Amino acid sequence: LRLLYLGDLVGRSGRNAVIEALPDLRNRYQLDFVIVNCENAAGGFGVTEQICLDLFHAGADVLTSGNHIWDQKEIVHYIDDEPRLLRPINYPKDSPGKGIGHYTASNGETIMVINAQGQLYMPPLDDPFHMVEEVLDQNPIPDAADVLVIDFHAEATSEKMAMGHFADGRASLVVGSHTHVPTADAHILPGGTAYQTDAGMCGNYDSVIGMEKSVPVERFRSKFSPGRLSPADGPATICGIIVETGRDGLAKHIAPLQLGGCLPELSPET
Ligand SMILES: [Fe+2]
Ligand SMILES: [Fe+2]
Repeated sequence: LRLLYLGDLVGRSGRNAVIEALPDLRNRYQLDFVIVNCENAAGGFGVTEQICLDLFHAGADVLTSGNHIWDQKEIVHYIDDEPRLLRPINYPKDSPGKGIGHYTASNGETIMVINAQGQLYMPPLDDPFHMVEEVLDQNPIPDAADVLVIDFHAEATSEKMAMGHFADGRASLVVGSHTHVPTADAHILPGGTAYQTDAGMCGNYDSVIGMEKSVPVERFRSKFSPGRLSPADGPATICGIIVETGRDGLAKHIAPLQLGGCLPELSPET
């Protein structure tokens, strides 16, 4: 199976770039499955039903999220009826929505997606390692699903690398989200799990992690906020990874994708 994972969409810039490019990317890379992290898609804060529908229509199969999932109030109701939209699995048990889903890719293979959130420098949630372990124990690949992906939404590179090794050999892919900056460490771990500490954002990198830069810069300088954060307009870089898995559910290939905007282009061979 060949899948594309795209990191946090930020605002209109990131959203429109992805909606416009996705049909062509699906075709060009013969993608069987597409996962998009949508936690910042609505003005930088959360996601709306309409944006989810637009992303599904463009070719996203599953939308993952993170700490911004509840920023748009309407999503609390929508998420319970939409199994293709995930929130981190380690939110309190009675939270709306789910942190895990089973899906079928366009080549007929089954795929399980887990969304979990880190604990370091993040709002407190249940321990993601124990929750992920429970799911992995109950769902060994390739029996329970042909492919298993973990989107680990976390701030600290250490916690993300630890999750990668923790799931190595039991997940097809562990990919980080949340920092909005792509790391140059996409590789396959010794046990066969594809891994990247952070996929980066889909948004305008002439910014401070996707936000128009003057306000955050002034906040850091003066410890006083001159205004509200708003997503940076302008050309987005689409950032993500393309992963190919084999019959054993493990990764055969991983390659970073960076298209458009001000980051260097990385486009895997087709
Ligand atoms: Fe984010
Ligand atoms: Fe986040």
